[in-house]
Amino acid sequence: MSDRHPRGFASDNNSGAHPDVLAAIAEANEGHVVAYGDDDFTAATRDRFRKHFGEQAEPFLVFNGSGANVTAIDALTRPQEGVICTEVAHMHVDECGAPERLAGTKLLTVPTDDGKLTPDDVRRWEEGRGDEHRVQPRVVSITQATELGTVYTPEETRAIADAAHELGMHLHIDGARLANAAASMDMPLRVLTTDLGVDVLSFGGTKNGLLLGDAVVFLRPELAETFLFTRKQLGQLASKMRFLAVQFDALLEGDLWSANASHANAMARRLADAVSKLDGARIAYPVEANGVFVTLPADAIERLRGALPASLPFYVWDEAGTIRLMCSWDTSEDDVDGLVAALAEAL
Ligand SMILES: Cc1ncc(COP(=O)(O)O)c(C=O)c1O
Repeated sequence: MSDRHPRGFASDNNSGAHPDVLAAIAEANEGHVVAYGDDDFTAATRDRFRKHFGEQAEPFLVFNGSGANVTAIDALTRPQEGVICTEVAHMHVDECGAPERLAGTKLLTVPTDDGKLTPDDVRRWEEGRGDEHRVQPRVVSITQATELGTVYTPEETRAIADAAHELGMHLHIDGARLANAAASMDMPLRVLTTDLGVDVLSFGGTKNGLLLGDAVVFLRPELAETFLFTRKQLGQLASKMRFLAVQFDALLEGDLWSANASHANAMARRLADAVSKLDGARIAYPVEANGVFVTLPADAIERLRGALPASLPFYVWDEAGTIRLMCSWDTSEDDVDGLVAALAEAL
């Protein structure tokens, strides 16, 4: 492990890129190809997405997860329309108001204990439907795996999709960690999305071993009709698209997407199992993907902070003293065991 940049648990974005992804970039770095996605690398990658999400899928590559969310939401809403999401949704908490500013939409947020929306949450704004004074809910956005490390079962997603569709709304998934959710349930990507009636998803690549790159995947192609313009206007069109494309190809061609995600999940499980045996530490949410949330006494948090490398050891998530620990595709068993030892010491 690098002494200069030791691995930590603050974020699954802190990891580097998988060697296969870097090799794919190097291999594509030859000659000239048409810019902005009109190239054979991008065409092949779009086909690759269709293998995972169905022949009708319309995938578009973008730079990052916030960009995927904001362009997807912009494509799905008109100026008077809003998006229902949880109050811990990344688009609500961690995108600096980008949906409001760039998509011009209002987020209708719902409190949640476990990071998940329910069908009842989808219905709670209906009394304002048709009232010119009220924002009109048009999109339901759920995060899979959630910001709290939990996952929606297929039945839960299906129930939300049905409730949304009954009310004339679309279902969007923020799938920055969709691969972790799929790996956690050992299910193909399609079974958790297309087959459940999901309309559009943001599909994460960056957290799962890419250098950079996420995607917006329309599972109902008619919703994608003007998306090329949306992506350009919102600054998410890469001119050297081939380099985004080949990264996704490396991820989706074989099982790298699920191997990386399964590994991160397994490290989170190892961490959670060990932490749950420590007196004074409490696992705050079910550990179902690659995140572990641990509630600790305030003095133990400070001691743990002092024991870990200074560069962002972890985020403190709430006032109850819960810290967030994220595992990555490259987290090792030794990393986990080292953290558990530091935690035991701090307690
Ligand atoms: C749930 C979720 N959605 C989206 C993103 C993507 O954000 P970024 O714009 O940083 O790639 C993140 C990253 O932390 C996330 O956790």
